Amino acid sequence: MARITFVQPDGNRQVFDSGEDETVMLVGVRHNVAHLPADCGGQLACASCMVDVPEAWRDRVGPPGLDEGDMIEDALGSRPPGRRLSCQIAVSEALDGLEVLLPERQG
Ligand code: FES
Repeated sequence: MARITFVQPDGNRQVFDSGEDETVMLVGVRHNVAHLPADCGGQLACASCMVDVPEAWRDRVGPPGLDEGDMIEDALGSRPPGRRLSCQIAVSEALDGLEVLLPERQG
């Protein structure tokens, strides 16, 4: 279990504990976090679960996978540093305390 903080574009913060074998997306969707439609349910097919990972967490979270990075670039025309698809971030105890920022617009 890990505690994850979701930061809205207006700075509003929501903090939730993960369940077993959840991704960051699933934690957020389970709590109806705004700006996180996650339309494909985690199938790596929609790019509507994007989050920005603060620089201090990027080493622990890791970079996007190949298909994930391509999907972000297709949606945005670029690959902003720290941008990830939250359905591809598996929560582990190593991510306890993670903060992710929700973008204004999803892909
Ligand atoms: S939920 Fe669709 S790509 Fe993450």
